[in-house]
Amino acid sequence: MAACGKLLGLLALLAAGAADVSVLNTCMDGKHHKTEPGKEDELHGQCSPWKENACCTNSTSHAAHDDQSYLYNFNWNHCGIMSPACKRHFIQDTCLYECSPNLGPWINKVDQTWRKERILDVPLCKEDCEQWWNDCRNDMTCKENWHVGWDWSQGYNQCPHTSKCQLWESVFPSPQDLCEKIWSNSYKYTTFTRGSKRCIQMWFNATQGNPNVEVAKYYANAGAGLSPWMLLVLLFPALLAALP
Ligand SMILES: *[C@@H]1O[C@H](CO)[C@@H](O)[C@H](O)[C@H]1NC(C)=O
Ligand SMILES: *[C@@H]1O[C@H](CO)[C@@H](O)[C@H](O)[C@H]1NC(C)=O
Repeated sequence: MAACGKLLGLLALLAAGAADVSVLNTCMDGKHHKTEPGKEDELHGQCSPWKENACCTNSTSHAAHDDQSYLYNFNWNHCGIMSPACKRHFIQDTCLYECSPNLGPWINKVDQTWRKERILDVPLCKEDCEQWWNDCRNDMTCKENWHVGWDWSQGYNQCPHTSKCQLWESVFPSPQDLCEKIWSNSYKYTTFTRGSKRCIQMWFNATQGNPNVEVAKYYANAGAGLSPWMLLVLLFPALLAALP
């Protein structure tokens, strides 16, 4: 009986390893995501790199470029008008979040009214994070975590009375502070560079395909820790013991 239990345990581990494939090419259960990724010929502007395979619709891709769009009513201009150089990074961030089918390894369940899943610790390429921070350096903001703590009484986010507008650098002293804190650890700062296959690119040239496909594969396997083959080798004694 004990041996049989071990065999079941082995099978469960193998299943866990195999199940990891399901995190590849998938859409999170968010507010606007499609249920399955697929081709979207009409994706707009900065979201167009995802048109071969996307979790966003044409309509979402348009809204990603608008101020206080119907997506989240989010007001980028809460401390004066956000500069276009800075805003383009927030548009790209929205495109990645809404359109990418390669964030599976970092999807986590959440208990929130507006979504059932979120991303956590997505390893962002160094350049994407640093250029974002550099281009926003002369902008102002009043908050470090843009997910929570706003005054939504007017239907869009405004600075709460307890916070004042400050230069970007006072709120986010480094690129790492920006990328990790702004969306409560949705991103993780890395020193991996674009093209390294070890970090997710917010910006990419789609004429060479989507580089994040490989990155998701790498982390999906790393997440499994042990390959099914390694498990078989390690658990071979248990397997033998289970045989009559
Ligand atoms: C794409 O979405 C925009 C904005 O919602 C809309 O004006 C346009 O007609 C749509 N295009 C297609 C091909 O559906
Ligand atoms: C994308 O790559 C292609 C081919 O390498 C190049 O011709 C094009 O200018 C690039 N586009 C951008 C926006 O960098």
